[in-house]
Amino acid sequence: MASPAAGVVVIVGSGLIGRSWAMLFASGGFRVKLYDIEQQQVTNALENIRKEMTFLEQSGSLKGSLGAQDQLSLISGCLNIQEAVEGALHIQECVPENLELKKKIFAQLDQIIDDQVVLSSSTSCLLPSQLFAGLAHVQQCLVAHPVNPPYYVPLVELVPHPETAPATVDRTHALMRKIGQSPVRVLKEMDGFVLNRLQYAVISEAWRLVEEGIVSPSDLDLVMSDGLGMRYAFIGPLETMHLNAEGMLSYCDRYSEGMKHVLKTFGPIPEFSGATVEKVNQAMCLKVPADPEHLAARRRWRDECLQRLAKLKRQMPSQ
Ligand code: NAI
Repeated sequence: MASPAAGVVVIVGSGLIGRSWAMLFASGGFRVKLYDIEQQQVTNALENIRKEMTFLEQSGSLKGSLGAQDQLSLISGCLNIQEAVEGALHIQECVPENLELKKKIFAQLDQIIDDQVVLSSSTSCLLPSQLFAGLAHVQQCLVAHPVNPPYYVPLVELVPHPETAPATVDRTHALMRKIGQSPVRVLKEMDGFVLNRLQYAVISEAWRLVEEGIVSPSDLDLVMSDGLGMRYAFIGPLETMHLNAEGMLSYCDRYSEGMKHVLKTFGPIPEFSGATVEKVNQAMCLKVPADPEHLAARRRWRDECLQRLAKLKRQMPSQ
């Protein structure tokens, strides 16, 4: 665990993702300054983090080696960006997904940061070349894209701008490891990065199968939650190929023709509208009515499942 003296991390934007980052960095022993333009947002965020950490400690799921009280004492709110960034080792931007707003904030930060700090964006889909174009400190900039909810899903995609210094990616990779996250290096920027490209490929085919009446929406979801998803929590699609035959070469030898035959039958990009959206919506609402209470309850259940899965993954001996 890092000592608090190891450095200060600044979170810009104290919404859903900013709060999660704050908790993760505090769990690693870092001092966290939570900056927002709205005083009320900061107050709400600190209160929400306090409740969340107390609950996590009681349920035995608090990350890091410090207790909740000690972790909480590492996080403070801040409304002055200049003060916030002074001496910081890492700045994690978490403002709403709006290119112009993010560019404005990075231009502002570019004026006040030193040559040491890493400037990182949580963006889900904006490209580094759009976000960091023309910044004097572009070598210190990258995207570090978390997955919701970041406290239980550790993956972070690190995506550099073409001019990002390799040391910036290395430092961020090490920092993410230090706070218990699982960073991956996306070597070149690409729309959707990696996670969302895989996710959209799955969503697309799921949609086409329901649209063509091959399977019902609820059975489609079961194929993932009780089928593919069971092993994907532990091994990825490439290792699955390797293990499902006598190694990768044997898998390709045996199954590549079959795979190509099926892949040629995939259809065009779905419209996600019309009769199919009605059908899917009806099936989803039957399971989880789309009102705030039911959705929140189901999300709590999902987070508890993820929390237990994360615990299981930590307990499994690595090979
Ligand atoms: P949010 O809307 O919950 O929070 C945004 C926060 O930014 C608010 O507290 C707002 O007051 C603050 N803000 C607005 N303008 C500001 C400014 N000029 N300076 C400082 N703070 C400002 O948004 P959320 O969901 O936390 O998303 C943040 C980023 O994380 C987005 O880029 C999003 O794409 C990305 N992301 C979101 C995920 C999700 O599932 N919500 C998952 C992964 C990434």
